[in-house]
Formats: sequence, structure tokens, C-alpha cells
Amino acid sequence: MEQANFDAVDHYIAQLLAPEDSALRAVEPSLTEAGIPQMSVSANQGKFLQLLALLCRAERILELGTLGGYSTIWMARALPEGGRLVSLEADPGYAEVAWKNIVAAGLSEKVEIRVGKALELLPQLEAENAGPFDLVFIDADKPPYTEYFQFALRLSRPGTLIVADNVIRNGQVLDAQTTDAKVAGVQRFNAMLASEPAVEATILQMVGSKEWDGMALAVVKKPT
Ligand code: SAH
Ligand code: DHB
Ligand code: MG
Repeated sequence: MEQANFDAVDHYIAQLLAPEDSALRAVEPSLTEAGIPQMSVSANQGKFLQLLALLCRAERILELGTLGGYSTIWMARALPEGGRLVSLEADPGYAEVAWKNIVAAGLSEKVEIRVGKALELLPQLEAENAGPFDLVFIDADKPPYTEYFQFALRLSRPGTLIVADNVIRNGQVLDAQTTDAKVAGVQRFNAMLASEPAVEATILQMVGSKEWDGMALAVVKKPT
């Protein structure tokens, strides 16, 4: 009953304020066709990320976990002329599908996908002095979220916004006895956020067409 209401209201909001154009609508079937699991953010979450990018006046965005490029497209559309989004994706097949979607969205000039494991690509970005990024969206595999966050901090400046998806996991974060590595990864991440002096942070729990979950938001106070 509740889930049906959450779905209906999510749909209502999306219809009003997060309508998909043909490029965004094409992402879901492109994943299905390639046999890739559907783990994209919802339309309203994509629009939320776009608003955050606008709020940050983001000119440089870093994303961890591209999948089919759905969140990438929402965020890259907030970039001004000359703005850049770098998205890291471990799976070359996913990156190929995402790239087609990004080209179809007319964003090939603004977006770069780097293929590889984030823990290998992040030190490269650091070595290249690719930062500071204005917005970082962490949405790759969950066990190393804490390590991803530490890299994000080193690629930040005071005022950078770091967002992390999937930090509530259907409320499973409350289960201290969990044996699920994804849940344990976000539990460790959330605890680190609470004690990390470099940021001020909160978590928004989210309901809607996706399962009950949440995003952490952290604003960098001090450079690291
Ligand atoms: N941000 C996307 C969804 C990402 S799903 C959207 O909302 O549209 C998570 C993605 O992280 C998957 O594509 C997965 O292949 C990728 N991933 C998993 N482990 C990774 C790693 N170690 N490094 C980089 N990407 C990884
Ligand atoms: C999973 C990953 C995601 O990024 C997401 O939004 C939902 C689920 C997963 O790995 O289970
Ligand atoms: Mg996610």
C-alpha cells in the first residue's frame, strides 16, 4: 500500500518536474537490450542531482559508476559551456552502452568516460591534478565507499559537494549484524562521515519508484 503510494507520487513529481526527453528515455531499454542490470537513479533523483550541480555552479563533476549514463546525462546537462564531467566505469561493455547514450544526448564534448576500477583511476586523476571538482557523485560498488570518499576529498576544494548514493539500503543499515558486504560498506561509510572533520554531512532517505534508499551529502570545509 505504502509502496504503491510512493510510486504514484514519484510518478506525479517526475511527470511535472523531471520529464525525460528521448535521450534519457533511451537509457533503460539500452540496458535491457545489453543484459545490464537496472541500477540507474530514478528520474526525480537525476533531477535532484542536476539541481545540486546547478546549486554548486559546477564546472567540473566527477562520477564513480557510469552504468548506462543516466545520472551522467542529468548532471552533465547542468554544466555551462566548457564544463566537464569525468565518469569512472569498471565494465567496458557498460561504458560502451553509456557512451552511445551520452552521444545521443549531445554531451560528447562535455563528458569523458574512463574505463577501469575506480581505485586505480582515482590515483591517476590525482597525479594528473585533475581536481578540484565542484561536485563528486559516488555510485560505484559499495564496499570501498570510504576509500572513494577519501579520494574525493583529495580531489576537492572547500565548498565541494560530495554525494553518495545507496547509503540506506532498504533500512538494512540499521542491522549491526549484517553479512551483506554492500550494506557493511555503506555502514562503514556513514560512520566515517559522522567523524570526518573535513566535511559537514547529512543523509536524505528517499522513497519512490526505486527501493527505499538514500543519498549522503557532504560539503567539504577544509582542503586535505
Ligand atoms: N550512476 C549510475 C548507476 C551506477 S550503478 C546511474 O545512476 O545512472 C554502479 C556502477 O558502478 C555499475 O555500472 C558498475 O559496473 C560500476 N562499478 C562497479 N565496481 C566498480 C569499480 N570498482 N570501479 C568503477 N566502477 C565500478
Ligand atoms: C545497487 C547499486 C546502485 O548504485 C543502486 O542505485 C542500486 C543497487 C547494487 O549494487 O545493488
Ligand atoms: Mg546507485
